[in-house]
Amino acid sequence: MLECHLILLGATGDLAMRKIFPALYLAHQSKLLAPIISAVARSKLDNETFQDNLTKKAQEYIPNLDPQSWGLFCQNIRYLSIDLTQPDDFKQLQHRTLPNTLIYFSIAPEFFAMACAHLAQVGLNAPGVKIVLEKPLGSDLQSCKDIYAQISKYYQEDQIYRIDHYLGKQSVQNLLELRAKNPILGALWNKEQVDHVQISVLETLGVENRGGFYDTAGALRDMLQNHMLQMLSLIAVPTLKNPNAQALRDAKLSVLKSLKPLDFQAFVKQVVRAQYGSSDGLKGYTQESNIPAQSQTETFVALKLEVQSSMWAGVPFYLRTGKRMGSSLVQIVLAFKGGGALILNLQPQYTLELNLKGVPPLQAHLDQGMDAYEKLILEAVRGNPALFSHQDELEAAWAWVDPILKAWEQNQVPLFTYPAGSFGPKVAFDLLESEGRSWHTPKDGYV
Ligand code: BG6
Repeated sequence: MLECHLILLGATGDLAMRKIFPALYLAHQSKLLAPIISAVARSKLDNETFQDNLTKKAQEYIPNLDPQSWGLFCQNIRYLSIDLTQPDDFKQLQHRTLPNTLIYFSIAPEFFAMACAHLAQVGLNAPGVKIVLEKPLGSDLQSCKDIYAQISKYYQEDQIYRIDHYLGKQSVQNLLELRAKNPILGALWNKEQVDHVQISVLETLGVENRGGFYDTAGALRDMLQNHMLQMLSLIAVPTLKNPNAQALRDAKLSVLKSLKPLDFQAFVKQVVRAQYGSSDGLKGYTQESNIPAQSQTETFVALKLEVQSSMWAGVPFYLRTGKRMGSSLVQIVLAFKGGGALILNLQPQYTLELNLKGVPPLQAHLDQGMDAYEKLILEAVRGNPALFSHQDELEAAWAWVDPILKAWEQNQVPLFTYPAGSFGPKVAFDLLESEGRSWHTPKDGYV
């Protein structure tokens, strides 16, 4: 069992309650991790009240919670009320500089620099201390660089673990594994065989109670700049002979740097932005709480891009993501030249489909594996950077996305509307249909 001291900043927040504590509990219950947890937030709560609140949330978010093992897990949690703006408050952490310390920043990025400075004052940036940073890491290239400039005053790159929870999903890791273990797939995985690639991340969820945050972000920043470009880079990297963390990062970075920049003509022709409107009893985006009535934030984006590498040049990659879609689906399609396709449905079911001409589609159900947050926390505790993004990757992704954001800010491109509960605006279908292609529908239909 791995031992660690986990300092969780933002311990009363939604992400902590919904994802991080459940992941820590699962790792503890499966005897993989023995964490001592300092749960840090500003609210002036005593330990007992915090634990009561936490247990209520755990009952909501952890299916079949076992009271006994939950009780054991909670014995090692201590709540500390710390105001991130008050350096003296951090002294409470001074005596908690235990070996293998991991500090999880589940707080808004505007507090990162201040928290780093105050942690450093109590010695919590010593070599060996690791920090885990949640997205969003910036809202454009410049802010991403600014955040890093502040953090890197206190922490070396090898102490920083940037979470993109899609990289923790077994199904996403398998994008490399599948090819590595099956050279036959590697032989199909290139511009000679592939007509085009599709990546869809569709959610039935709306903005829920995150309106305040979401309205400043939108689908391009919230999903495409990170999760989708990370998946794209895992699809587009060549099969690595020696897939260590460094080689993988370099290969992903080279994919991100080879994305063909979009110009004004391309924004209009190749990028669709849209927002959901009310339909069938579902609210429209601008009727959701904390969303201004005039909001121009996109909840859907579809675009076509090209990876200008020797492996993929000329092959279109179509990406789409949206909230309040007709169903939830994470899907990758490699459509082959002359017909047929390899389809990976990553969520909600994890299946691999092979469509060959002349025979019914073949389908295999695969194992989803460990929870993504559990996996990533364990890897960070172990000190394995392979499943985390490097600063260079983030900057390359922002550099590609930035011109789109600028064109949208200047309202040079229309904002379309789609009915809540649909599959996006017609123009997103036209993007493929005008080129004789279409978005793939899962074999069993949308669920
Ligand atoms: C998060 C986004 O990063 O990913 C959310 O901020 C989104 O808006 C979520 O709902 C989707 O993650 P998953 O694992 O449910 O596909």
